[in-house]
Amino acid sequence: MLDAQKTIHLADYQPFTHLVERVDLTFRLAPGATRVLARLHLAPNPARPGRHPLRLDGEGLRLVACAVDGQAVAPALDDGGLAIAAEDLPEAPFLLETEVEIAPEANTALEGLYMSKGMYCTQCEAEGFRKITYYPDRPDVMSRFKVRIESDLPVLLSNGNPVGSGPGWAEWDDPWPKPAYLFALVAGDLRAHSAKFATASGRPVDLHIWVRPGDEDRCAYAMDSLIRSMRWDEEVYGREYDLDVFNIVAVDDFNMGAMENKGLNIFNSRYVLASPETATDDDYARIEAIIAHEYFHNWTGNRITCRDWFQLCLKEGLTVFRDHQFSGDMRSAAVRRIEEVVALRARQFREDAGPLAHPVRPESFVEINNFYTATVYEKGSEVIAMLKTLVGDQGYKRALDLYFDRHDGDAATIEDWLKVFEDATGRDLSQFKLWYSQAGTPRLQVAEDWQDGVYTLTFTQATPPTPGQPEKAPRVIPINVGLLNPNGDEVVPTIMLEMTQERQSFRFEGLAARPVPSILRGFSAPVVLERDAPPEERAFLLAHDTDPFNKWEAGRALAKDVMAAMVLQDAPPSPAWLDAVAAVAFDEGLDPAFRALCLRLPAEDDMAQTIHAMGRIPDPARIHAARRALAGALAIRLGEGLVQLCRDLDEGAEFSPSAEQAGRRALRLAALALLARRDGGKLAAEAFAGARSMTEEIGALAALLDAGQGAAELQAFADRWGGDANVMDKWFALQVGLAAPGEAADLTERLAARADFDWKNPNRFRSVVGALAANHAGFHHLSGRGYRVVADWLLRLDPLNPQTAARVSTAFETWPRYDAARRRLAQAELERILAAPGLSGDLREMAERMLAAGQPA
Ligand code: BES
Ligand code: ZN
Repeated sequence: MLDAQKTIHLADYQPFTHLVERVDLTFRLAPGATRVLARLHLAPNPARPGRHPLRLDGEGLRLVACAVDGQAVAPALDDGGLAIAAEDLPEAPFLLETEVEIAPEANTALEGLYMSKGMYCTQCEAEGFRKITYYPDRPDVMSRFKVRIESDLPVLLSNGNPVGSGPGWAEWDDPWPKPAYLFALVAGDLRAHSAKFATASGRPVDLHIWVRPGDEDRCAYAMDSLIRSMRWDEEVYGREYDLDVFNIVAVDDFNMGAMENKGLNIFNSRYVLASPETATDDDYARIEAIIAHEYFHNWTGNRITCRDWFQLCLKEGLTVFRDHQFSGDMRSAAVRRIEEVVALRARQFREDAGPLAHPVRPESFVEINNFYTATVYEKGSEVIAMLKTLVGDQGYKRALDLYFDRHDGDAATIEDWLKVFEDATGRDLSQFKLWYSQAGTPRLQVAEDWQDGVYTLTFTQATPPTPGQPEKAPRVIPINVGLLNPNGDEVVPTIMLEMTQERQSFRFEGLAARPVPSILRGFSAPVVLERDAPPEERAFLLAHDTDPFNKWEAGRALAKDVMAAMVLQDAPPSPAWLDAVAAVAFDEGLDPAFRALCLRLPAEDDMAQTIHAMGRIPDPARIHAARRALAGALAIRLGEGLVQLCRDLDEGAEFSPSAEQAGRRALRLAALALLARRDGGKLAAEAFAGARSMTEEIGALAALLDAGQGAAELQAFADRWGGDANVMDKWFALQVGLAAPGEAADLTERLAARADFDWKNPNRFRSVVGALAANHAGFHHLSGRGYRVVADWLLRLDPLNPQTAARVSTAFETWPRYDAARRRLAQAELERILAAPGLSGDLREMAERMLAAGQPA
């Protein structure tokens, strides 16, 4: 039976009783019985005066031996660790030696030391190190690690620099003190794709990407991304790499995307391996971003880490912000920004509007794994973007330099972070800090006034209540605004309006005519802009706005208005919108990637969120039908021009993953998908047959399936790619994602019955069960089958891999939005989950929080 779950509070923070000055680890690897010998050089922590017992974390360990300064001791043991009484400890520095036994082959949770296809690997963040050995498993305990690995496997890796090896053993020394969550070990039959790098100050660094034999030729793009990341961090942030080697390992069984262990990043193989035949353009972009993200953690996360897990956004929000900056520099910044905002709304706004809403820095948690959320990551990044907007580029640079100077080697807090901005710029950030403590997405209303040549914008902000936070104070909101003349010229280029009050007006004088406002340019704050603009104004901005984000946003807002009217009032697709989109689609002066984004309709879940925010109950079936009808109308409006687009944008001879080529492919596929609704998929079938890249192959297949075709192509795809798990994940996810609402759950079960549905592999599980959860009309089907099938699989996975089960369970977070019948069905599944015997703490916390949304009126 599980213990009652303990809630941890930020306010209870205390430094650890002891310092760990050094730690030596020896691993004798064996699948069923690995021995871990640990020598901890401990000393009383002056920050905790007095004598204290020593309490070390440890879970699922079999203690074989324990000694203090060479004398055997028998510590008190419980489920969470060991304790040695203060009387049994010297008051001076001492050596604690332990030996434990663990079974990596039995570890299905993929946390701690586990095995994946014959290879040993570790995942320690956040609290996995305690499953490897007894240790103070908390980020503010930083120590120097030396590691010896004993195994017959050919490649033995750990953090830091290699210091010796021989037949059956290798030793590693990491000169940089680090918390245990950054520890890593890998052992396997691996091959390297290698390169060399010289830092700005001349340190040579050996770079290796380690993969299974046969995958070496799919590492070039990841390596190129790594080298560009290293150079970029030197040029933009002045930060150099600090070891002689940098290793990346690709592993097939991994709960997350990737992990920034010091000098030894471990990646989900899907975010490393790429070739034109197997990876889509989106895959390439993601690989580039994740390689950069994990590399950037070396400074923002590793050199400066978090004092405790409440400070998670200190490293994750900042590192996401840095990887966004990097991707913007490598690709079209405008297109990247639009994609970031689409993702922010789909994931973070959704979270912020439901029962799982929490502040960027939470104040309590039960299971920290459940707080690696869109809010901590993506809103955490947006908060930093706002800071930069408020203090300017120079202020931001001074603050960051001060941050690195002042806190290198520290385990820091959000207070430390904000203080460097205050000290570097002289600003008072006490009101800004509300962005870290208040949950919920602010709503921003705008009123306009035009009188005697004076134009006034009046903004009102309000944040809806969130769990535990009924009232909110007004926040600092940087609102970037530009003004356009009725003829389309920009009369006031972008300026930042700094809103600090609940209601605030800004005046513009000396204008010859009433302007058209372009508000929240670049999405300068993570808020919902509530502005009922007439369709003509939106179409005008879509045609004329000089800010590419707001240009796109105008088209998006128009599309949402049109879809909402179709859903709620049975309105026909608006000709004004169709004309406006047609103008953009065929405008050869615009970036093809941008045109492709404008052709993409708002997602069904996004529409449900929007309709709910309007105070109406979204009907998933109607939203699905409206979206299809709108796409159909667009296909007709664009007419033969679509065929021309497909021809003009035909794949060139030489494949390149460049943003420029990817943009052309994206526009071509958008056209192909629309066309498939009119020509029965003729052109899409041709494109599939002649595809020279995975982007084209899977894109054409998607177009076919969406048009109700493609059975033969689906089979051909499986025949061709059956041996490649990463590619087959796409095959699974595509079908479930595009299945008709009434068929999605059944298809999921059919696919789940296949021999190659390896549900213990997180990627495969997400490709099937996660894809059903993401098929809005299928998951929320009134039969309740979608809810049931997802819940069945969560219950099956939970005993083996609670972390992944808990993450996928967020599918249910939107249940309070819907009608009474759906709410009852979803609640019943959440209650069934809670009633399951032996439920993990991870999934229990999620189900309880989602149900606590209560019985909405
Ligand atoms: N530190 C995380 C990985 C992690 C997350 C470990 C949760 C343990 C629990 C890593 O830096 C990360 O953030 N990875 C992201 C990808 C990134 C590009 C946002 C991930 O794995 O999804
Ligand atoms: Zn990260």
